[in-house]
Amino acid sequence: MKKKIILAVIAGAAMLLPIACTNQAPAPESGAATLDELFATRRSIRSYDASKTISAEEVRTLLTAAQQAPSWANTQTSRYYVAVSPEKVAAAKECIGERNAQNVAGAPVIIVSTFVKGQSGFGRGQAVNEVGEGWGAYDNGLSNAYLILKAREMGFDTLIMGFRESDRLRALFAIPEGEEVMAVIALGYRAGEPNQPRHKSLDEIAKFF
Ligand SMILES: Cc1cc2nc3c(=O)[nH]c(=O)nc-3n(C[C@H](O)[C@H](O)[C@H](O)COP(=O)(O)O)c2cc1C
Repeated sequence: MKKKIILAVIAGAAMLLPIACTNQAPAPESGAATLDELFATRRSIRSYDASKTISAEEVRTLLTAAQQAPSWANTQTSRYYVAVSPEKVAAAKECIGERNAQNVAGAPVIIVSTFVKGQSGFGRGQAVNEVGEGWGAYDNGLSNAYLILKAREMGFDTLIMGFRESDRLRALFAIPEGEEVMAVIALGYRAGEPNQPRHKSLDEIAKFF
């Protein structure tokens, strides 16, 4: 009888846990995080818990999600360079400016996102329209979006950084000249709760006809 009561108390506490951690997306195994929950809890994180690690296998899961993103004529030109060893992570953090480096000091993984030029938005070697290489950047951003939302679903946090030194990153990761270096993405676990950004009203960004 006593054993039954103890088990019931443990089960009850386990049920309450997700409620207590309101800003944490549910674990992926639960499959319970809706897209709206991911949108609500994903934020740019500028303070990371240095005691927590993320495995290369977990990063592979994120990259597999990124591969599901649409791309111009299925050209799939996005490429990722992943620093997981402490030495490479430290070296990559030296290529993102002082402020960004401070903000992601505790992040265990740094990902550099690039795209192969001259393919997305191109046909027979010519830009199909005025956007040119912008379509490769567009595809890369979509791919990044899938990655950061999958990261949130897995309970991770991210910071996309456009302030970075592309030449140093190119040398550090041996990125070919035919690829454009885009964002650097820090990956880790939040150490505190972020500020909520102000969003423009819908009427400022959309017109219906
Ligand atoms: C292309 C791009 C570049 C960014 N570069 C930086 C950066 O270098 N440093 C930084 O702290 N945040 C950077 N951000 C994060 C934005 O500031 C952030 O997404 C925005 O303020 C909205 O906040 P939220 O992501 O929490 O919704 C960047 C975001 C994007 C999409």
